[in-house]
Amino acid sequence: MLEIKKISHHYHEQQVLNQISFTFEAGKIYAIVGESGVGKSTFLSVISGLDFLQTGEIWYQTKKVTNFDCYRRQIGYVFQAFNLVPYLSAVENVRLALDIHAKVKTIAQIKEILKSVGIVGQTLEKKCADLSGGQQQRVAIARAVALDEKLIIADEPTGNLDKNNAKHVLEIFEHLKLEGKCIIMVTHDRQLANQTDIVLTLKAGELVVLKD
Ligand SMILES: Nc1ncnc2c1ncn2[C@@H]1O[C@H](COP(=O)(O)OP(=O)(O)O)[C@@H](O)[C@H]1O
Ligand SMILES: [Mg+2]
Repeated sequence: MLEIKKISHHYHEQQVLNQISFTFEAGKIYAIVGESGVGKSTFLSVISGLDFLQTGEIWYQTKKVTNFDCYRRQIGYVFQAFNLVPYLSAVENVRLALDIHAKVKTIAQIKEILKSVGIVGQTLEKKCADLSGGQQQRVAIARAVALDEKLIIADEPTGNLDKNNAKHVLEIFEHLKLEGKCIIMVTHDRQLANQTDIVLTLKAGELVVLKD
């Protein structure tokens, strides 16, 4: 589904990713673990085209990516810092993302997706700036899921959630996986990572398989 070839990335003289090649398959959940600062977020933003691709190639669904704007719009991305529009409600944030991805869903469908992550009642209409960190994180997950893209890339999607909510997010991902989607997530939570199909880490800029 997603093949990356010899991807390298550096910030000034600091080499963060070093000639990484890997194939991510449909119907699998990948977890990327590792210490803070090893390059997990950089890896996600480079493979999703959010960050400029310095060296290497990205192949998505057997085609080499050349139009990165178009490629980005085929990914449901969960940002580490949520990136919600603060003055819009949960429902409006999801609807805005759908607009950007040229997708249409009814308000009832949007509310249903938000409900699946536990955003219900008055919380649906509150400005996101007035939601707790955990609630914002769940809206960010719902927003990515609502897009129905085949590829979901999530940077620490459970970082602000308690154990039960984190487990619930994994259940949502497991459901998407059964629909043939590919989920790539960064997590600090080794226990959560071990429940995914493939666990990876970054060592000296290289991608290393810990569990397969
Ligand atoms: N925009 C940037 N400019 C310069 N250095 C950066 C930038 N983003 C990240 N880095 C550096 O790259 C390394 C990897 O960062 P990051 O990918 O955020 O790691 P992680 O997500 O694993 O914590 C760190 O040393 C960080 O300081
Ligand atoms: Mg990070």
